[in-house]
Amino acid sequence: MSQSSKQTSQIAILGAGDVGATIAYSLIMNPVAGEILIVDPKEEVRDAQVQDLSDATFHGNTSTRVRAGTHKEAGQCDIVVITAGAKQKKGESRTDLIGRNKAILDSAISDMKPFRPDTILLLVANPVDVLTYFAQQFSSLPKHQVLGSGTFLDTARLRGILASKAGVAASSIDAYVLGEHGESQFVAWSLASIGGVPLDSALEKGVEIDKKKIADETRGKATAIMESKGATNYGIGGVAASICKSVLFDERIVRPVSAWQEELGVCLSLPAVVGRAGVVRG
Ligand code: LAC
Repeated sequence: MSQSSKQTSQIAILGAGDVGATIAYSLIMNPVAGEILIVDPKEEVRDAQVQDLSDATFHGNTSTRVRAGTHKEAGQCDIVVITAGAKQKKGESRTDLIGRNKAILDSAISDMKPFRPDTILLLVANPVDVLTYFAQQFSSLPKHQVLGSGTFLDTARLRGILASKAGVAASSIDAYVLGEHGESQFVAWSLASIGGVPLDSALEKGVEIDKKKIADETRGKATAIMESKGATNYGIGGVAASICKSVLFDERIVRPVSAWQEELGVCLSLPAVVGRAGVVRG
């Protein structure tokens, strides 16, 4: 991305709650876009988040600007990150949110239409796979331009656990959680490797890992955090900002993101190449 196009690039974030604000903060600290628009019908919270986030742009190496935006303006941005929706209450599953969050999504998308033809929609609200599917239906954008954070966050959590067991950096662990960002997710153990060496052979002699326990710990991490602090925001905030960077800079990095799976007729996470066109190759 040239400097001038970076200056003019825009990311809209629907939802001025903790997740939306954390995504915005991550995008400010790792400058990706020229401008971030915060969109939320609760104007007082929206404007307070804009003021607070703007204070993070007045120092350091960021040139990102932050302002309040409308749904119509969001529809003309390079990327629209959709965090708007009810969040899980204690004991609620992500799937329990479908009814409320589908209605919120439908209304937001109709308020944003007509979309700029190359806009990318990034779903973060849960249940993210189902909402990614509905966003493709409601927006009528090409399916490859509508993706969800999917099991990228679960994959990061898995890599963090394996890194601590193997004594190497998480960035050196190649392992994926695939499928649903939810209870039916699974770890693709056959793909797991460290520095190109299959996981089982790469582990130090005598280092045993309990794969079922690690998969359960990964799947249950969000619930454990929510039990104590009520919600998660930093993990998903960093993941969503990383996907935005891959899109805006056309990085074409392989990510496990939620995308339309033609053969299955649903949206689920499989390793996909993410670039300016969204899911460039699934
Ligand atoms: C989590 C939420 C984003 O897994 O579903 O933290």
